[in-house]
Amino acid sequence: MPLMLSSPSPVLELKPYKSLADAELISRIQAVRESLGRELLILGHHYQQDEVIALSDFRGDSYGLSQNAASSSDCRSIVFCGVHFMAETADILANRPEKLAERTGRRVPVVLPDLAAGCSMADMAAIDQIEDAWDQLGDVLETADLTPVTYINSAASLKAFVGRHGGIVCTSSNAKAALEWAFARTRRVMFFPDQHLGRNTAFRMGVRNDEMPVWDPYAPALGGNTAGQLAASRVILWKGHCSVHQMFRPEHVRMFRQKYPGIKIIVHPECPQEVFELADESGSTSKIIKTVEAAAPGTKWAIGTELHLVNRLKQQHPEQEIHFLSPVVCMCATMYRIDLAHLCWSLENLAAGTAVNVIEVDEETARWSLVALERMLEVR
Ligand code: 13P
Ligand code: SF4
Repeated sequence: MPLMLSSPSPVLELKPYKSLADAELISRIQAVRESLGRELLILGHHYQQDEVIALSDFRGDSYGLSQNAASSSDCRSIVFCGVHFMAETADILANRPEKLAERTGRRVPVVLPDLAAGCSMADMAAIDQIEDAWDQLGDVLETADLTPVTYINSAASLKAFVGRHGGIVCTSSNAKAALEWAFARTRRVMFFPDQHLGRNTAFRMGVRNDEMPVWDPYAPALGGNTAGQLAASRVILWKGHCSVHQMFRPEHVRMFRQKYPGIKIIVHPECPQEVFELADESGSTSKIIKTVEAAAPGTKWAIGTELHLVNRLKQQHPEQEIHFLSPVVCMCATMYRIDLAHLCWSLENLAAGTAVNVIEVDEETARWSLVALERMLEVR
């Protein structure tokens, strides 16, 4: 297929790609990668399907992918094989003012191959709900003594809110450092949208469960709390969760321990506290990978995170015995939307001079999000 980078052509339709065989899609994707060379950066989150991961230039957890987008220098476009909030973050970091100045104003478009690749957890906190909660909290607490911390799994508007209110973004790999950063500034933290990451991290730092009320945005007043509960709080948790990780249950941990004596349980911190506290180890997707890679042959594992990553670890480490920590399938259906057909379609459009599915955060939101994201990249 001829590649005409300098002459934009009409958008290629997605439909025909859906009936192509994987082998053809892979070879066409490879052709675009070779043709665009360093001008193209394909980023892939660890939960992506194997075929997509194999075609990514860099794979990582949310922190690593953000760092990569922030430091990208030669590329002219980024194709993000992940979910919407990740592509937004990449757009903010790759097109921040200093990067734009280096490129004399040229933006790097960030393409999300399927716009339906969202995150159900991120959707559990809308900016108007956060603003309403903050206003209500202002009626009963001193918000000057409250730092907002948003998990990176959130819309850019929430990151901007946090930037404006002296807060920070965190990922699963630096949540403890982000909370330390926040507690060095204020006595209290408001953590959204994932109650589990917030609770698991703060609990290990010595915050008691009764100091962590949950804010339900659908409750008639004060998120379903009394003014007294909020006054006694250290961390106000948002009532949000990951639909994938909430499927792991303490009975699964007990079942594996009983059936496979000596087995080690490792889980993502988005798991509920009852599971997290029973596990031997925990961490971001990258930490889970590194821990398994470093283990001795013969180690038995039950892993509590998304299915594609666990299956890949199983294939890559036949010398270890790896189990998925649930009898039911827990996969991230939205990550799964990025498939070879969407990847090939978006890449061939790029190669033909038309960036499709570009995620671009408006300037004002990007400016304030960047404040909170830069803080995130500074703490580890
Ligand atoms: P990581 O940053 O650990 O890769 O987590 C991303 C995510 O969405 C987990 O559900
Ligand atoms: Fe969102 Fe959960 Fe999917 Fe991660 S695994 S992207 S938190 S729905």
